[in-house]
This record gives sequence, C-alpha cells and structure tokens, in this order.
Amino acid sequence: MDIVQNPTDIQQCAGERRRSGQTIGLVPTMGALHQGHLSLVAAARAACDFVITTIFVNPKQFGPGEDFEDYPRTMESDLDLCRAAGSDLVFTPAVCDMYVPGSSTTVEVAGITEILEGQSRPTHFDGVTTLVAKLFNMTLPDRAYFGQKDYQQQMIIRRMVSDLNWHVEIINCPTVREPDGLAMSSRNRYLSPVERDQALILNRVLEQADQLAAAGQMSPQEIQTGMAETLRNAEGIEPDYAVVVESESLQPMEKNFGCAVALLAARVGRTRLIDNRILTFAE
Ligand code: PAF
Repeated sequence: MDIVQNPTDIQQCAGERRRSGQTIGLVPTMGALHQGHLSLVAAARAACDFVITTIFVNPKQFGPGEDFEDYPRTMESDLDLCRAAGSDLVFTPAVCDMYVPGSSTTVEVAGITEILEGQSRPTHFDGVTTLVAKLFNMTLPDRAYFGQKDYQQQMIIRRMVSDLNWHVEIINCPTVREPDGLAMSSRNRYLSPVERDQALILNRVLEQADQLAAAGQMSPQEIQTGMAETLRNAEGIEPDYAVVVESESLQPMEKNFGCAVALLAARVGRTRLIDNRILTFAE
C-alpha cells in the first residue's frame, strides 16, 4: 500500500491509473477509522481496480468552538486498517498543502446546505464540498463511497456532482451499527459509559419511526412530532432536530406516502451525534 502526502503526486498517480484504463474508487475520510469506514473501503475494493482512501481532518468543515483540535487522530492504526481492508493507496495531505496560502475558492451548494445540519453548523457544508471537490480533482475517481450516516452530506455531494457535470458515481453504503444499534462514529469515543447508554435512544427513535411509517397509520408530521417529544423527554439528551422529510430534497413531505427519511441530531453530554433512517410510507 502506497502512502502519498503531496497533492501533485496523487494527481499524477491517479492520472496514470486512469490512462492505463483502471477504475478508481475513492473513500474520503477524516481518519479515526472504524468498521463503518472499512465497509466503504471493502465496497470500493469489490468494485474498482484501484482504491484510494484519504485521511484528512479538514479544518474548513469545523466551525468556531467545534472539535477540530480534539478530533481523534490515529494515523498509525488507520494505515494498518486501510492496508488490511485492501486500500491500494492512502492520501494523507498536510493542511498547508491542501489549502495553500492565498487560496480563496469555495465550492458552495445552495439551498439544501442551509437546513438541518446547515442551520446548526453554518459553514460546515462549504468546507465539506470544497474539500471533496478538491479530492475529486486530485484523485479522478470513477466512484466515490460515502456512508448513509451522513445523509445530508451525501445528498449535497450528489447535487454538487450533478451540477458540476462530474462523471463520478456516488455510492451509498449503509450505516454500520454497534450490536446494540448505536451508529458507528469517530465521535462515539467522546462518550462516557453513561452517555453511550443514553445515546441508544437515537436509534430506538428511528426504529420506532420506521415501524410507524410501515404500519401506515400516522402521517410524516405526526411521526416527526413523536420523535421530537421522545428525544426531549429522554435523559441526558438535548435534541437539535428530528424530522421526517422527503428523501432527496430534505423538504417537508407533500404527500403521505412514498419514500422519506427520518433525520435527527442531538447532543449527548457535550457530544453532538447524528443518525437517520429511510422510511417507506404505505400508500
Ligand atoms: O464524512 C466525512 O468524514 C467528511 O465530511 C469527508 C467527506 C471525509 C470530508 O472531509
């Protein structure tokens, strides 16, 4: 497995692979890898000739007072995990090489970035899309792999790819959960044992929403109201949002049937967690 730090080198390497007819699969990460990330590498490995994993804690997607400084950095074990999962190359750029002094371009997707996560973290998605656009240009992927856990992020990246006419297929990989249902996240390691227990309510609320939607007796709005109430009453949980919305636009559902997504964000102690579930409403 090669480890590359320089953007010029990765661009050259990816260009050579493309010219020789190989398909490139890209797995962008911020490191602190867990089974969720490794499932993305496995999916890329199964479908692409050359798998590039990137590890970069992107300062531009953290707002003031967020956890950029504290974000777990576990490079040595991440590299071992990438090797074992079948990455061909890991790209680990330095901040100063990704954002050279004087760089002043931001890739901004309007609308869908301004709701939900975007309301609580106003500069977050501009940081994500700018970085992902740069990674796409550097690594020239045929396919890029993203976890469903960051659902809104994935919808925004799909929008960006479509708007900018990139030939990159965005592959959704299901959220990987702990045996008790907690969605895997690099931030779970901030949770104390008590908080980790309290955090289980997030998945339970989504499971319940799923069951209610499938039963077909409650409207999206009623389910949403129930989710918010359960979270408000849960010990140790400070909900940010809990919604049931149309699965692509993330806008309120205009009809009472079809595909929706339940999305939530909540603080458990000082840790902010997100989770989601695709819901199917019976007609
Ligand atoms: O989902 C993440 O880990 C990050 O937002 C991403 C896509 C790697 C960009 O930094």
